[in-house]
Amino acid sequence: MIKKISFSYKVYDSVKDLNELDQKLIEASDQILKKAYAIYSGFNVGASALLGNGEIMTANNQENMALPSSLCAERVLLYYCRAHFPDVVIKKMAVSVRATQAIIKEPITPCGACRQVMVEYERNQNSDIPIFLKGEVGEIYELDSISDLLPLAFKTDVLRRH
Ligand code: THU
Repeated sequence: MIKKISFSYKVYDSVKDLNELDQKLIEASDQILKKAYAIYSGFNVGASALLGNGEIMTANNQENMALPSSLCAERVLLYYCRAHFPDVVIKKMAVSVRATQAIIKEPITPCGACRQVMVEYERNQNSDIPIFLKGEVGEIYELDSISDLLPLAFKTDVLRRH
């Protein structure tokens, strides 16, 4: 037997093609990336999340001289949300990027570790988290679910939930 997994995603030419709330969410990730602590990579990433209570939370990547101690914007954001709003659903996310070295003309897609973390949050809340991805300029991608980014994500019932 062969099983096949496929997914589709939307591509927009401009934020102007999105509704007001989605534009606001992307504007939030565009703004917060400016405050990233990314002095080693020069690669500023901003992430935003629209919560079920209507609030938009934002975060950015945080680097460290001990480079592996750095953390991506997506995980800084999700861990903050979980810490402060453990019962609030995440309705949508956006990730924007800007680098000092070059103008990034296409969206970046989250790293593998962030995908794993995002998928667990999505599963916990039993509802998909659509995500917008954006470079400094160029097209914007919208995925219906973070799980699309990580088919067959790690999951086991052997690790008990406490
Ligand atoms: N980074 C993120 O914040 N999110 C991603 O999805 C990919 C990479 C950060 C980590 C590091 O601070 C910089 O971008 C360069 O890898």
